[in-house]
Amino acid sequence: MTESAQVVFTPSGRRHTVEVGTTVLDAARDAGVDLDSVCGGRGICGRCQIEVGSAPGIVGVGLSDPGPTEAGYEGKRTLGADRRLGCAARIISDVVVEVPPDSRVHRQVIRKRPEVTNIPIDPAVQLYYVQVDPPSMEEPAGEQERLSAALTREWELERLDFDLAVTTALPGVLERSGRAVTVAIHDGSQVTAVWPGFHDRAWGVAFDVGSTTIAGHLCDLASGDVLASAGVMNPQIRFGEDLMSRVSYVMLNEDGAQQLTSVVRMALDEMVGDLVDEAGGNRSDVLEVSLVGNTIMHHLVLGFDPTPLGVAPFTLATDQAIRAKASKIALEANPGARLYVLPCIAGHVGADAAAAILSEGPQMGAAVQLLVDVGTNAEIVLGSRDKLLAASSPTGPAFEGAQISGGQRAAPGAIERVRIDPISLEPKYKVIGCDLWSDEPGFSDQAPPVTGICGSGIIEVIAELFLAGAIAVDGSIQAGDNPRLIPDDRTTSYVLHDRPIHITQKDVRAIQLAKAALYAGCRLLMDELGVDRVDEIRLAGAFGSNIDTKYAMILGLIPDCDLDRVSAAGNAAGTGAMMALLSTAARREIERVVRDVHKVETALEPRFQEHFIEAMGLPHTTHSFTELASVVDLPVAKAPERTKRRGKARR
Ligand code: FES
Repeated sequence: MTESAQVVFTPSGRRHTVEVGTTVLDAARDAGVDLDSVCGGRGICGRCQIEVGSAPGIVGVGLSDPGPTEAGYEGKRTLGADRRLGCAARIISDVVVEVPPDSRVHRQVIRKRPEVTNIPIDPAVQLYYVQVDPPSMEEPAGEQERLSAALTREWELERLDFDLAVTTALPGVLERSGRAVTVAIHDGSQVTAVWPGFHDRAWGVAFDVGSTTIAGHLCDLASGDVLASAGVMNPQIRFGEDLMSRVSYVMLNEDGAQQLTSVVRMALDEMVGDLVDEAGGNRSDVLEVSLVGNTIMHHLVLGFDPTPLGVAPFTLATDQAIRAKASKIALEANPGARLYVLPCIAGHVGADAAAAILSEGPQMGAAVQLLVDVGTNAEIVLGSRDKLLAASSPTGPAFEGAQISGGQRAAPGAIERVRIDPISLEPKYKVIGCDLWSDEPGFSDQAPPVTGICGSGIIEVIAELFLAGAIAVDGSIQAGDNPRLIPDDRTTSYVLHDRPIHITQKDVRAIQLAKAALYAGCRLLMDELGVDRVDEIRLAGAFGSNIDTKYAMILGLIPDCDLDRVSAAGNAAGTGAMMALLSTAARREIERVVRDVHKVETALEPRFQEHFIEAMGLPHTTHSFTELASVVDLPVAKAPERTKRRGKARR
């Protein structure tokens, strides 16, 4: 009678009885325990590492002594101290086997960078090492069929389809490698790449294509590690600063769409080259690409006509996720590399908003979360696990510094922070490129020359002037006997800097229009959801990350909320793109969520106009901001006399 032993796997706690002499890897497979392997138990890959643990009632080591496989192991992953190869260690008596996180196929990775939270690692592509039978007269079969049979025998993979490039390369690869090969299998069914011998490198690139910048992250698909990151300006800018001017370019130029598609694809392809160079690899190591962007970027990268997005009813070519070969968007990567593009939500709520949902998870909790990505068009998502709504709102480019007299993009030399003395109206400021305030020693030596004011600076200067009483609730700059307040035609301007950077009445109006549009969009969704307040606000994107949430609320960009629960979401879209790169579960989740999101079209809602008009006041003409008022002394809701300044933020 064969002897048996009991094995307990931790942390799963799964118990299993095996024949004495069974390898830990085989026992794990029988027990349905997640223990990684690429080489199929040949002592090459080092992914099956385990440790001996302990549990009440189980004493002794329980595993065979290390044999030649472990002694001679020189695999890519160093064998850690106190660790054993699960494919070599045999169970000889009852034992507790601990599976460390890095030896699991499906693992949670917690990253150091704060904006990237837990990501379940479960990539669409997996590597498998197999020994393929030699050809024989007795059992005639093609090389593809022999490889298929080996994958079924060793890995229980069945009904596989092969990329033509794999079938083409296979005979030569088998000949060179003594018929031992590693294959990449996508979605468990498609053989997309083959390498001679053992190959342990599977990389992917996550792209977030913004209208101004493109960000790319190269990740190890097995570990989830970010190997390299890069950001470049979107070269489409030369065809138009904002999205609508690019759509106009396409409408006015016969080959406009092809030009815009071609330059953005070239930029993406160059980034792939730069990222793999930085990580010390090859383009052929890249097996997966994920991509997000607003609807117009999405359409232009994919070669879809963006012009229907420029006019009502703002029709998308498709709102489904896209699965294609990466070569379809002219990326030079492994010939079998696959592209995954997250689904768009609505005409102006793109795959970047879907990615932000994936990253922030408003659909998972009971709290009503407002998720806002502010750009030329604000993308707004509101809801909880019960219901999710989405809309876009035409904020225009004022928050990005456009349409503002001294405005500019966030770049070195731009004023990004402003504080104003409420009595003297004297400002101090910070510029991008220097950490010091303008009144601190060393500022004039270290700070770059001031070139303008960016979005976050504009928000702060207007909010500070409002708190100081120099701007009234209706947005009018008050005249007064202060050298910083100067007559400007029939209005008043505030002198922020002698470059000159003046805050004019027109500037304030532009910000009021932008913020009223944003607030009205948020409020419309709140009406639709039937709530009068939100529990949490997350501000995504570059502007949302740089803006001071308190000042955003003082100006009424967003509804009243406990300020402790208003925060920046960082690059939520980029994080979501990475999650989709690394996890098929994340892909399924976002496709499900987007299907169920209730879309609200602001242009069709008469209440949007009503909300918009009422939202022109600071922070709002009629809504009270009680949460905000509990931490900031807001000026009363009437135009103040300009003789005395009132109101002071508690800082
Ligand atoms: Fe590859 Fe053990 S399974 S070394």
